[in-house]
Parts: sequence; structure tokens; C-alpha cells
Amino acid sequence: MSAAEFDARERCNWSGLAQRYGQSYARVCAGSVSFLTESAQVQPGHRILDVGTGTGTVAAAVMSTDAMVTGVDADTSMIEVAARLVPEADFRLATLPALPFEDAQFDAVLANFVINHVGRPMAALAELRRVTAPGGHVAVTIWPQPPSPGAALLTQAIRDCGAQRQISKLASQDDFPRTERGLRELLEAAALHSVTCKVIDWVLEVDPAEWWEVASGVSWMREFESSHLSFWVRSSTGSGTSVASSEHRTGS
Ligand SMILES: C[S@@+](CC[C@H](N)C(=O)[O-])C[C@H]1O[C@@H](n2cnc3c(N)ncnc32)[C@H](O)[C@@H]1O
Repeated sequence: MSAAEFDARERCNWSGLAQRYGQSYARVCAGSVSFLTESAQVQPGHRILDVGTGTGTVAAAVMSTDAMVTGVDADTSMIEVAARLVPEADFRLATLPALPFEDAQFDAVLANFVINHVGRPMAALAELRRVTAPGGHVAVTIWPQPPSPGAALLTQAIRDCGAQRQISKLASQDDFPRTERGLRELLEAAALHSVTCKVIDWVLEVDPAEWWEVASGVSWMREFESSHLSFWVRSSTGSGTSVASSEHRTGS
């Protein structure tokens, strides 16, 4: 699938879904936030950009450290919900790989589970680097392969129900291996330096019926009827992710 087709599908998959996302997958994605802020070495007074802010979980965590927060997302409903959660932050509608900021405007740029939702990951990372000040940090997370127990459970449920998932696959020239090495090499190819990358994991305990009620319509799960899959989610949902951080140095 071309990058443009991938991005168009992403716009559909997130459109107007902030409330449902906030009650479901945002809770899954919250597990990596402390790793992300530590990796980016967020300090009081820093200018921080949260890209693909969603319902504002990362922005809220950063704001609590007395840093100055700007958040962007490609979906209006996400921006609206994030702005209610973190009224002190500056939220704007913007879509990677083009951000409406001058070069070197931020001390750190964070993107929690966003690089895996863009049609041109390399161009997106180059844009994160562009808006990061010399000596600043870029920190991102993606879902790794092989998948976490929670992600594997969903795939198994879909398979066992006889449903087909239409996977949005990037064109080979745009894709990268969803491994520590794959993500590290992508960051390095985007001219980021001193890159470290590791797989982290955490457990999110949920009431299956309650969680599934909202989660089933979010992102790519929108393609399925919740009734097809609801009986399957009976246990806690575990997650794992690759978290990577890197430094942006000028002239090197
Ligand atoms: C999995 S959610 C992560 C949200 C948030 N970072 C969090 O931790 O909860 C992915 C978010 O990225 C946004 N997004 C997807 N593609 C984007 C793009 N090209 N530019 C900006 N935001 C994008 C979606 O609208 C969605 O809010």
C-alpha cells in the first residue's frame, strides 16, 4: 500500500474516536509514558512537543513536571479531548510528516505509539529531528514484533472467529523491522545520534466486558463487529513495546 493510502486509512481509523480511545487503548498506551519522559530527559521549563498526542496522556504527564507543553494530532476529536485534560498546554491540529513549527523549537519531542501509524516513518522522524533543538532529545515508542501477549490475544481472537484482518502494510521502501535494531537503525537513518532502544513491558488489568465495549471500535478494530469478538477477551491484557530515545546533535 502506498504511503498516501496508508495515511488516508489512518485518518479514517481515528476520526472522531477520541472518547472511545481515551477509555480503552489510551490506558494501554499510558504504560510507556514514564519510560518516554525519562528517555527524553524532560526537565522543568523545557519546551516539549507531544506528537500524536491522542487524548493527552503524555502531555498531562509532561505538564506535571513543570515543562511547557505543545501537543499536535491529526484528528480534531483528539485535540479537543486533550485540551480539556490539559488546558494549560497549547494543542494544534497537525499531521506528520509536516509540523507547523520552526526548526529547533523544542528541547524534546515525544511520540508515543505514533511512528507506527504514519505512512512514511523515516520522513516523520526527520521532521521530529528538525523541530528539536541541538542537544535535545527525541523519544518514540512503537509496538514490537513478535507481538505482546495482549496484541497476540486479539490476533488469535480474530483468527478463531474466522474473521479476516486487512493489515495495512507499508510499501517495502517505507517500512522497517519492528525490532530494537530496526527502530534504532531508522532513527540513525533520520540523522539522530546516540540512539538507545529497548523492549519494555507492563501489565494492564481491565474488566474485559467493560474494556471491550469501547475498545472494539477503535483504530483498525473499527473493521470488526464487537459482537464477533467480545466473548474472547477474558483475561488481562498485557503489552510490550519498543521504546527508543536519541539525541539530536548539530554538525555531527
Ligand atoms: C495510538 S494513538 C497514541 C496517542 C497518544 N500518543 C497516547 O499515548 O495515548 C495514535 C495517535 O496518533 C495520531 N496520528 C496518527 N497518524 C498521525 C499523523 N500522521 N500525524 C499526527 N498524528 C497522527 C492519531 O490520531 C492518534 O491520536
